[in-house]
Amino acid sequence: MANQEDIFKKVISHAKEYGYVVQSSEIYDGLSAVYDYLQNGAELKKNIREYWWQAMVQLHENIVGIDAAIFMHPTTWKASGHVDAFNDPLIDNKDSKKRYRADVLVEEHVAKIEAKIEKEVSKAAKRFGDAFDEAQFRATNARVMEYQEKADTIIKRLARSLEKEDLEDVKNLILELDIVCPVSGSKNWTDVKQFNLMFGTKLGATAESAMDLYLRPETAQGIFVNFLNVQKSGRMKIPFGIAQIGKAFRNEIVARQFIFRMREFEQMEMQFFIRPGTQKEWYETWKQTRMKWHLSLGMGAENYRFHDHEKLAHYADAAADIEFRFPFGFKELEGIHSRTDFDLGSHEKYSGKKLQYFDPELEESYVPYVIETSIGLDRMFLAILSHSLVDEELENGSTRTVLKIPAVLAPTKAAVLPLVKKDGLPEIAQEIMDELRLDFNVSYDDKDAVGRRYRRQDAAGTPFCITVDHQTLEDRTVTLRHRDTMEQRRLPIEELHGAIDREVGMRHWLKKIL
Ligand code: GAP
Repeated sequence: MANQEDIFKKVISHAKEYGYVVQSSEIYDGLSAVYDYLQNGAELKKNIREYWWQAMVQLHENIVGIDAAIFMHPTTWKASGHVDAFNDPLIDNKDSKKRYRADVLVEEHVAKIEAKIEKEVSKAAKRFGDAFDEAQFRATNARVMEYQEKADTIIKRLARSLEKEDLEDVKNLILELDIVCPVSGSKNWTDVKQFNLMFGTKLGATAESAMDLYLRPETAQGIFVNFLNVQKSGRMKIPFGIAQIGKAFRNEIVARQFIFRMREFEQMEMQFFIRPGTQKEWYETWKQTRMKWHLSLGMGAENYRFHDHEKLAHYADAAADIEFRFPFGFKELEGIHSRTDFDLGSHEKYSGKKLQYFDPELEESYVPYVIETSIGLDRMFLAILSHSLVDEELENGSTRTVLKIPAVLAPTKAAVLPLVKKDGLPEIAQEIMDELRLDFNVSYDDKDAVGRRYRRQDAAGTPFCITVDHQTLEDRTVTLRHRDTMEQRRLPIEELHGAIDREVGMRHWLKKIL
């Protein structure tokens, strides 16, 4: 069986080969952690965006969507805490001159300890066979317990030191754990320093009049500064939400793992404004609502889990991640944060403008509390792409590569394939294209044998192939082939639209989350 690293490499090369994602400015050797979406990637991304937007805005009467600018007044980032607190602890190796995130170095060390635990568990599972009780083994095996305690102690100490901003202790931890630079192999480390992740730029023509700006590191602040504009113009009553999709920028230091951590990426965020004191219930509600959205895509409940934060961001009183099983393990896909009244309160203070809501039931004004849901569009894209790519063994002993993207999100919904390029078959195929393209993204393929065309569409993730053959000339029926089951059935051309819509139509998928 291929190991996880090989699987991930395959996802990356497949993404390029089938027109999904490539590194930005590739012809100039690329730009690190910046990516371009090609023809299929742009469609998949658009469909994910649409699925999120419809679930969030269209299905909730009390949620509206906005599109705020990327540039914001620089005081925004003072108020939000990003100027002072949006930092990563960095450390340089003096021999290799390479720069690392100090916390990531420690976490990677812990991951190695955890890998040892997993090795012990799988060895024992083999040894004991069906009688193996994994939970009991983890709780009682001396070696596993020792490893676990070691890992827990390190993580706790790291969290404590970061929270207290005790960067000296973070360095001590790296030295005590004998962590070496992966490039030079040495322990010749600098001190740990904080590094702000925001990209700066300038607004204005002359050096004297120019204003320092930041590219937004999250879309959330565009929602907060417009809270009253939306509430008043939409006559919104609390509880209500404001949703937004847009680009965000972070000067990430550890920028690896393809589109998992990028310097330019897209977020889909929703801020839900509530009465102070109701945050616990709404936090739970939104955790469940968002999990339901993920599960509706049918990528398997076993591939998701919640992870509650111990170390909270400067704005939160509770926070959890929805983690997904990526090829490199369970990692954060989405964050749900109880942000209290931190943001609106802080913008009130810095702007001098009241950002309060008059609650007609309570007959009082207050700064609302906020529950935020925040998911990276690119990360969701990676979750889908990596989960969907499978090499399948067929009954005849051959294998096929298929991209089982949830049909509602697939870039192309159907490919129309005339069996031959003559006898009037292309004309009928074109007629089918013209009808279906009014509702679906469809493509036309008349090159190579039909079997090869099926394989090509499987690998590109197209849920349906429609084959026009000589029988079509006689009875106006075609073959509809299903990507996942490879089942083929004959049906009249007039029934194609309904058959495809039943599987790819957004309304059928959205029903699952109602
Ligand atoms: N407004 C809250 C916020 O921005 P976050 O946990 O920093 O919270 C939310 O980011 C989500 O944005 C993450 O769960 C992840 O999906 C995505 N994200 C964050 N940084 C990213 C990066 N550098 N590249 C791609 N996606 C990123």
